[in-house]
Amino acid sequence: MTKVLLTGGAGFIGSHTGLTLLESGHQVVVVDDFSNGSAEAMRRVAELAGLGPWRQASTEHWTAADPEGGRLTLIRGDVRSPQDLDRAFTVDGGDISAVLHFAGLKAVGESMTQPLRYWDVNVTGTVRLLEAMGRHGCQTLVFSSSATLYGTTDQVPIPETAPLQPINPYGYTKAAVERLLTDVAASAPGWRIALLRYFNPVGAHPSGRIGEDPNGLPNNLFPFLCQVAAGRRRHLQVFGGDWPTPDGTGVRDYLHVMDLAEGHGRALDLLLAEPPQRLTLNLGSGRGHSVLEVVQTFEATNGLRLPYTVVARRPGDSAVSVADPREAERRMGWRTRRSLADICRDGWAWQSANPQGYRSAEKEPIGELIRAQHGS
Ligand SMILES: NC(=O)c1ccc[n+]([C@@H]2O[C@H](COP(=O)([O-])OP(=O)(O)OC[C@H]3O[C@@H](n4cnc5c(N)ncnc54)[C@H](O)[C@@H]3O)[C@@H](O)[C@H]2O)c1
Repeated sequence: MTKVLLTGGAGFIGSHTGLTLLESGHQVVVVDDFSNGSAEAMRRVAELAGLGPWRQASTEHWTAADPEGGRLTLIRGDVRSPQDLDRAFTVDGGDISAVLHFAGLKAVGESMTQPLRYWDVNVTGTVRLLEAMGRHGCQTLVFSSSATLYGTTDQVPIPETAPLQPINPYGYTKAAVERLLTDVAASAPGWRIALLRYFNPVGAHPSGRIGEDPNGLPNNLFPFLCQVAAGRRRHLQVFGGDWPTPDGTGVRDYLHVMDLAEGHGRALDLLLAEPPQRLTLNLGSGRGHSVLEVVQTFEATNGLRLPYTVVARRPGDSAVSVADPREAERRMGWRTRRSLADICRDGWAWQSANPQGYRSAEKEPIGELIRAQHGS
């Protein structure tokens, strides 16, 4: 049984990946500062994985386990804090085999108004993490990179070899971390590093128990559309109806978050099984869907109507962004298995059962945890 550390494991992608890893027999330690993640998501991950009850070991540390050795440990901490990271690496006897590094800030618009915060959390946070890995003898890391690195390229589909030309501070921080990890991998033998460039992760676990719960106004199409369907927002704005695409709206590569979670499991297995290496892989479906196609599929799958208006293009957007995912299939036998209709069904199962996200959830079983999240 391998023990892995997930930074940012209480967030959207981390919570789904944590569940997948628990189900495949890993022990999981999560370190998250709850700036955009939820303790309730952790409670539900434990519930779905059949773990419990929760035990509070200290003011910042909780564990849910089962008699067969399954174990989810949650630490409230900041990746920029060496003390918090030391606690994460040594909890329950230590011996972390690998880190999956999800913790970070991800809103493009916010990164333009708060660049220092983005560089601090995304880049300094990764430096601190690598230092902690050095102190604790761990050299295996899976990093959440992004297709945003490719900027507004016209290339379709986009291979990993395409030039990196990010166009906003969020993208610059992801490029900086990729560079940093490349330098670290070259600096000493033994590093096993996967840079996973996600395209557009969407959808939710099919149970509807965990899903994406953005703070404030969603940045991306899919969570916005789910909130319109749930009546939280009046209508959807479609940015640009005059792109050079079949219906004039932007085309993106959407992948189900459970496919993405499974991709992390594959990357981890590969890194642990093969000799040390640095691996760069696109994780996408290889298929493009326009905004209107997503709207229509959501409506048809869920029997709903979604009011929308087409408005001007947003600066920095591009017509088409679709992954060439063949390298991920070649290296780790991974490809997406779920369709756009699956994404729409599962995304709506989550949103309709949780119209206010995790905030509408009952909080009793891990009241301590939730109180801690809110700093009281
Ligand atoms: N969702 C996407 O569309 C997308 C696309 C490409 C890449 N990514 C990257 O994947 C990663 C995960 O994204 P997500 O969608 O799950 O985002 P998310 O915001 O849901 O999850 C990030 C988690 O990190 C935590 N966090 C933030 N700052 C922290 C800090 N200083 N210390 C500890 N924890 C901290 C947040 O509380 C949150 O739980 C991010 O690095 C993001 O940039 C996301």
